[in-house]
Amino acid sequence: MPHRADTLLERRRKLLGPAYSLFYKEPLHLVRGEGVWLYDVNGRRYLDMYNNVPHVGHCHPRVVDAIDRQGRLLNTHTRYLHELVLDYAERLTATLPDGLDVAMFSCTGTEANELALRIARQVTGATGVIVTDYSYHGNSQAISEISTEYTRPDMLPPYVIPVPAPDTYRGPYRAADAAERYAAHVAVAIETLKGRGIRPAALMLDTIVSSEGVVAVPRGYLSRAAAHIRDAGGFFIADEVQPGLGRLGERFWGFELDDVVPDIVTMGKPMGNGHPLAATVTRSDIAGAFARKAHYFNTFGGNPVSAAAGLAVLEVLETDQLQQNALKVGRHLVSGLEQLAARHEEIGDVRGSGFFLAAELVEDRETRNPATKYAGQVVERLRQEGVLTNTIGRDENILKLRPPMVLSRQDADMFLDILDRALQEPALRAPPR
Ligand SMILES: Cc1ncc(COP(=O)(O)O)c(C=O)c1O
Repeated sequence: MPHRADTLLERRRKLLGPAYSLFYKEPLHLVRGEGVWLYDVNGRRYLDMYNNVPHVGHCHPRVVDAIDRQGRLLNTHTRYLHELVLDYAERLTATLPDGLDVAMFSCTGTEANELALRIARQVTGATGVIVTDYSYHGNSQAISEISTEYTRPDMLPPYVIPVPAPDTYRGPYRAADAAERYAAHVAVAIETLKGRGIRPAALMLDTIVSSEGVVAVPRGYLSRAAAHIRDAGGFFIADEVQPGLGRLGERFWGFELDDVVPDIVTMGKPMGNGHPLAATVTRSDIAGAFARKAHYFNTFGGNPVSAAAGLAVLEVLETDQLQQNALKVGRHLVSGLEQLAARHEEIGDVRGSGFFLAAELVEDRETRNPATKYAGQVVERLRQEGVLTNTIGRDENILKLRPPMVLSRQDADMFLDILDRALQEPALRAPPR
């Protein structure tokens, strides 16, 4: 009889088709989660340094209870009156700057971005969109068109213009004026659109620029880029699907690390701690202008059970002071990674904020050439040692660290210890330079 994992792989291939992918050479078969721990079918536990969706910890009892309680009482949709969705919208928008006070709910980050794009296009009457050059914003037809990670530059429609991600480690601008120089590309993109007879509707940015490698966005970039798009009559859409909800420690939302208030903010992944919940938040004047031209309904978005889950997540974040935990333990992680970098030449750069961190692995600190193969080997070795991470970036050479918000200092030390040992292994070392 084949091993159980083989059977699952075979069934998966048949039933789900080949478009799906799996992490790790030896895929994990997980059956249970608790806090920062995941347990496989054999009872082995893994420290989760990667998953940001179980925001307040895997299977947090207060979130599970909230879903259970509301699920037993009532679950309908937003075409009936219900208090919970309003309580949630109130509590959620209270975390955002004044003016961003209308929340429209959906189930995925893709949908939140779709709606943001629809709003921007309807309200401005324009179609052009500017995004960074290795971005991911979702999986629908319209959003894959602006997800440059998967769409080759020559395949982009004429109304989508990519600009260089503001990467000050390996990108073209690394000096003090990087924010200004990267933002100037947005102005150039606007001119390119105009040259094609297209007006810009929006600039959409993931405020931590995660797909490009959790870039340390130079302060002043977001506000300058936003000013360019607004001058041209378009909206600044902050995609907070990954960085939002306190993960960055310092601030609750990624755009708050800069001096800018977006016109539209999209969010998803961590909002329901695994329960599908997403939102597009905007100003009442924009929401009003959209509603005069269009209509919005989402069967599952904003249902009472989702609202209960979302509320429970916000409550746990606050009562358990998890943003503060991300800040404190995140700083400890950064300093631990910097100490490892002092001993391991392969770590070229450590960056990020709170519990959204990156360690960029390079073949050589001078050239900063990506150590792609090595990074993959490190990820596999960490998995063998019971730690889950993954790589990110165009060259897949950046370790992406994004643990649940309940990671403790002790957990962080365990991770640093295991990473240190992996980096010491001669067998894994990058090829001779
Ligand atoms: C920055 C960003 N935006 C949007 C999305 C899409 O979210 P979803 O997979 O929930 O549709 C993702 C998903 O990875 C993302 O990373």
